[in-house]
Amino acid sequence: MASEDAYTAEPFVPSRGGLPALRKAAADCRGCPLHRDATQTVFGTGNPHARVMLIGEQPGDQEDRQGEPFVGPAGKLLDRALEEAGLNPADAYVTNAVKHFKFTRADPHKRRIHKSPTRREATACAPWLAAELALVEPEIVVVLGATAGKALLGSSFRVTRVRGTVLEEEIHGRPERLVPTVHPSAVLRADDREAAYRGLVADLKVAAQALG
Ligand code: URA
Ligand code: SF4
Repeated sequence: MASEDAYTAEPFVPSRGGLPALRKAAADCRGCPLHRDATQTVFGTGNPHARVMLIGEQPGDQEDRQGEPFVGPAGKLLDRALEEAGLNPADAYVTNAVKHFKFTRADPHKRRIHKSPTRREATACAPWLAAELALVEPEIVVVLGATAGKALLGSSFRVTRVRGTVLEEEIHGRPERLVPTVHPSAVLRADDREAAYRGLVADLKVAAQALG
């Protein structure tokens, strides 16, 4: 790689073959340095014709081990919130802005601690997300937290300002309707977990209503 500015998944993204080809190719992505320490690529999964696409930040520890997005504690909470909002998790397509787990360790034997991806890493990974959006063609994109929001809508994105509203924006050259909300991990960390959870469900209901 010539320089750090050259981080991009672009050359790894196949132009044909649909989601199965994307998933297969993403397993070998070397578009940024995050593949080096992670166990595996965690690509999007779910209904290839989903009306709702959910976009998180990056895989966590469990997702990195299992190779599927949102299978850990945040995913369990998200599934519960979706059901409560009247959305069937099994009908959705779920993915992340960044496809490899980024972490630090206090020492080699300690557990892995989540580290937020940089803007450069999210930008490098964006071609995968763009390809997923183009193939699934969701009617509503649920944006889970600041990393996904900034990756899709730019660095001025503020989740507190736009959560629970339907935004209409051009994303990777396509008109999309997006409903931002908090990240389910933020609900798990909140002082008032119940209030934070209610807020997440309320935002997801906006997405459910927007589907009609
Ligand atoms: N958090 C995310 O943003 N994505 C996952 O897949 C799991 C936890
Ligand atoms: Fe490729 Fe994204 Fe993984 Fe970086 S994080 S290596 S761009 S799949």
